[in-house]
Amino acid sequence: MRLIVIGFGVVAQSFAKLLLSRSAELYSEHGIKPRIVACVDKGGCAISPAGLNLQRLLEAKKSKGTVAFYDKAGSKFDPMQIIENVDAEVVLEATPTNLEGGEPGMTHIISAMRTGKNIISVNKGPLALAFPSLMELANYNGVMFRFSGTVGGGTPILEFAKRCLKGDRITSFRGILNGTTNYILSKMEEGLTYDSALDDAKQKGYAEAIPSLDTDGYDAAAKLVIMANWIMGMKVTMKDVDRRGISDVKLSDVKKAKQNNSAIKLIAACNNKRLDVKPTEVPKIDPICVNGTLNAVSFSSEHSGQQTIIGRGAGGIETASAILRDLIEIRDHVFEHSN
Ligand code: HSE
Repeated sequence: MRLIVIGFGVVAQSFAKLLLSRSAELYSEHGIKPRIVACVDKGGCAISPAGLNLQRLLEAKKSKGTVAFYDKAGSKFDPMQIIENVDAEVVLEATPTNLEGGEPGMTHIISAMRTGKNIISVNKGPLALAFPSLMELANYNGVMFRFSGTVGGGTPILEFAKRCLKGDRITSFRGILNGTTNYILSKMEEGLTYDSALDDAKQKGYAEAIPSLDTDGYDAAAKLVIMANWIMGMKVTMKDVDRRGISDVKLSDVKKAKQNNSAIKLIAACNNKRLDVKPTEVPKIDPICVNGTLNAVSFSSEHSGQQTIIGRGAGGIETASAILRDLIEIRDHVFEHSN
């Protein structure tokens, strides 16, 4: 399978490393031989119809800061030219999330769909702002659109609900969808101030490039929108979320909750009608009351009751594993429909 990679930050680089380390197994177990035929970042691009040498690509990025130094050609095509003109089965959209307009990811995704290419997005922006119309466009163009890595990092929250709970009807769900705020709240419980806990989260690389996306609840709201559309079949976008972040949570609130055997968590909830993100006191015995950067979601289903999935919600290699999951699914679908 030929892939075009747009954006070569931590997640896309981790994906390239994953392909390097697991290529033999991917072929023997899944019959899949992914080749990155083009890779674009802010500095330029690298193209090879036979497949880029991933070691060399990673070295160019590490030593020169851009994939444009992959070879002497130092190509200067823009992402749109590449999406439209390079032959590939899949486009990986891995540019940073922008929740104001969704660009440049939105245009990349739309143009990939229009040129008949399947999409894997780890960029939450376009989905949070235009999920219903993007899904319609994917169906209209007969392409697959997958985005496992947008919710829960490597933890298969979307698949758990969509596939494992297929035979049931999910009536509501609630949980922790943002690792940074959960880390900050957990550290505050240990006595750290809000500001020093946030600095710590930034240093550890959990926080978004603009940390207010985490602390004001935008990131959790974006993930909630993706889940509500994909799992509950709602047609909603960011503007439908009633959102409040954690910046007003005081150390004294956290301490008080602790005395009640509870903890304050940034809870995202959907009950099929309403979408809310807000700081909430959660009893310690509730399975979603997890600490650190963990994510946790409890689904309530009509027949099987409550089910909870917990796992690491962020990180390069974790999210790269979700990309691989999407790629295998696309490959299986393409194979099924070509026989
Ligand atoms: N900033 C996000 C978080 C990264 O803290 O959960 C993963 O989407």
